[in-house]
Order: sequence, then structure tokens, then C-alpha cells
Amino acid sequence: MKLLLVAGARPNFMKIAPLIHELRRDPRGFDFKVAHTGQHYDYQMSQVFFDELELGEPDYFLGAGGGTRDEQLSNIEIAIGKICALEMPDIVVVVGDVNSTLGAARAAKQCGAKVAHVEAGLRSWDWTMPEEMNRIETDRISDLFFVTERDAVENLKKEGVDEAKIFFVGNIMIDTLQFWLRKVSQAGRKNAASGRYAVLTLHRPSNVDNRAKLRELLETIQEIARDMPVYFPVHPRTKKNIEEFGFDSLLGENVKLLPPLSYMDFLSLWKDAALVLTDSGGIQEETTALGIPCFTIRDNTERPITITEGTNVLVGTTKEGILGAYTMFKEGNIKTGRVPELWDGKTAARILEVLARGIK
Ligand code: UD1
Repeated sequence: MKLLLVAGARPNFMKIAPLIHELRRDPRGFDFKVAHTGQHYDYQMSQVFFDELELGEPDYFLGAGGGTRDEQLSNIEIAIGKICALEMPDIVVVVGDVNSTLGAARAAKQCGAKVAHVEAGLRSWDWTMPEEMNRIETDRISDLFFVTERDAVENLKKEGVDEAKIFFVGNIMIDTLQFWLRKVSQAGRKNAASGRYAVLTLHRPSNVDNRAKLRELLETIQEIARDMPVYFPVHPRTKKNIEEFGFDSLLGENVKLLPPLSYMDFLSLWKDAALVLTDSGGIQEETTALGIPCFTIRDNTERPITITEGTNVLVGTTKEGILGAYTMFKEGNIKTGRVPELWDGKTAARILEVLARGIK
């Protein structure tokens, strides 16, 4: 059986890493290739993850980044289609919910391969998010569904997916987190921050592409930064908008602007933070796994377990909502949680067991 693993954007790389390592180790000698769509292409958004997570070079780098969502999707579909025609994989493995996930799934389907979706079944019910469209369409055409939490199993069943194709295997990103956390701790890796501090990430189009919303959010962060430094690795999309809107002056010196960080640099920063503020999907899960308080700057989440069991608080995207939650946090009302079921560092091994059985 031949596998093609596809990744393209930053949050994909920590999700395929454990699979690649497990496949290399496996005595059954799986035949597999790795394709990078090129959705993300800056060194700090892409190559640094391949280097740090010891992934080696992908077998294919497709340069299908940039442009609108539609352009990206079709460029990725065409490029992965060519690889599928060449390699004839039995199963194409896609991860997460980015444009590369859907573009690759479409291409795989076109060329007759089966699609295995890692992180299937998550739903925000918010159709304005490109990720929600990617999740739903990818799941419509997938053949194997690997899920991180039980809510996702229910979502898929409600959408008519045959239960026999759904595998609750846990969260593969936590495989990467556990492995590299040990390395970071052993190496005594230091970050630039000390004392009590917060970490911020912000890149959702709904938060950063709209001028008034971005202003409101930056002003809110500035308020929090009166109490403690806020370290802010700035995503290229956000950086571009801050510059275009002329918002650099909204942030005082207690907001520490950083370039996008490598996996290890970011981990060593957020693991010791008093509070993480984010609109990312993955960081909601990672903070839950390590028990770090997290404010999610969104109105919804496709990862409800981080709220019901974890440390995540959905604070919305208004100044009032975020500062209201922050006041409670300051008063010591800090959400604690537990690590969800099967977020145990062994998800990749469970996925391989299923893949080894093939698709009936
Ligand atoms: C994408 C994903 C999002 C994920 C995020 C993590 C989709 C729909 N969105 O959003 O789910 O959370 O990645 O980063 O797939 N850019 C660079 N260098 C890069 C990559 C991007 O400068 O290496 C700039 C470009 O101007 C590009 C813009 O960022 O047009 C947006 O990139 P894109 O991949 O379209 O979406 P993200 O906002 O990164």
C-alpha cells in the first residue's frame, strides 16, 4: 500500500511530523511520500518546522501559495493531481482544515485514491470561516476519519458518515507537543521573556483584515499590557495589515512584537506564560494539554473540548468581552482543566494501525 502525506501551511507541519516519524520507524516498511503544497513559503512559516521537527526535505514542493482562496485551492488541486498521477497512492493523508487540506483531498478523489482526514469532524458552525468550508467539504469526500475528540464523532455521524470509518485516535498535535517539550526542557532552552507575561497570536481574517476590528483588538491588548508584557509573534497577514492601516503606534513598548517563531521558540515562550490570547485553533488545544490559561478571541470554537474539559475561555472579539474576562482572570478566577482523553502522545501509532489494515 502506498501513502501520500500532504501538508502546506504552518499548522499542518506539527500534525504530519509524528506520522512521518512513526512511518520511518515502522518495521512493516510503509511506502510513503510527502508533498508540501507551498501554501506557506516564508522560512519562518515553513522550512524552520521541517528543520526543527527533523522531517527532512519533502519529496515534492509545489509552490502553490499566494492568491485568493479559490486560486490557492485550484493551484493545490492541480499540483497534487499531477503528483497523484505520478505516484498512484492508495491513500492520500490530509491534516487539519487549511486550503491545502481541501485542495489535496479534491485531487486525491479525482485520481481515484482514498482520502484519510486527520482531525476530521470538527465544526464551528460558522460558514464565514474558510476553515469551516474546508472541514466540511474535506469530510464529505473522505474515506477514513481520524478524530481528536468525541464531539467530532457525533458531528460526523449526524452528517451521515458510516461509524465504521470513524476512528477516535486522539490529538496528533499533542504527540509533537509532548515529544518536543521534553527536548525543550532537557536543553534548558530559554525564551526572551521573564516574570509574569502573556503571549498573543492573531491572524484570523475576521480579526485582522477589518480595520475597525483590528484597531479595537490592538487597543484591548494595549490595556492588558499595562499589567504585564504581552509577547506578540506577528503573522505575515497581520503584519501587513498593521502596516497598511498605520497601527504601529497603537502599541506601546510593553507589547513585544516578534517575527513568526519556530516551533521550539514558540513552545518555550508560551509554556511559561501566565495567559495566552489567541484566535488560532491549534493553540487552544496545546494550552489545554499543558494547563495554561487561554483566551480565545473568537465567538465560536470547533474544539469544544478545550472549553468543557480544558483551560480555554471563549472571550469574543470585543474590547468589552475580552477585558471582562481579563478582569476575572486578574481577580484570580482562573480556569483550570484536565487533559482530554487520548491526548497522550500516541495518536500517530494508532493512526498507522488503522492505515495498515487498508481500506475495505
Ligand atoms: C492559513 C490557514 C489558517 C491557519 C493559518 C496559520 C487557510 C484558509 N487558512 O491562514 O487556517 O490558521 O494559515 O498560519 O488555509 N504569507 C506570507 N508568507 C507565508 C505565508 C503567507 O507572507 O509563508 C502571507 C501572504 O500575504 C498570504 C497571507 O499571508 O497571502 C495569507 O496566507 P494564507 O496561507 O492565504 O492564509 P493564512 O492567513 O496564513
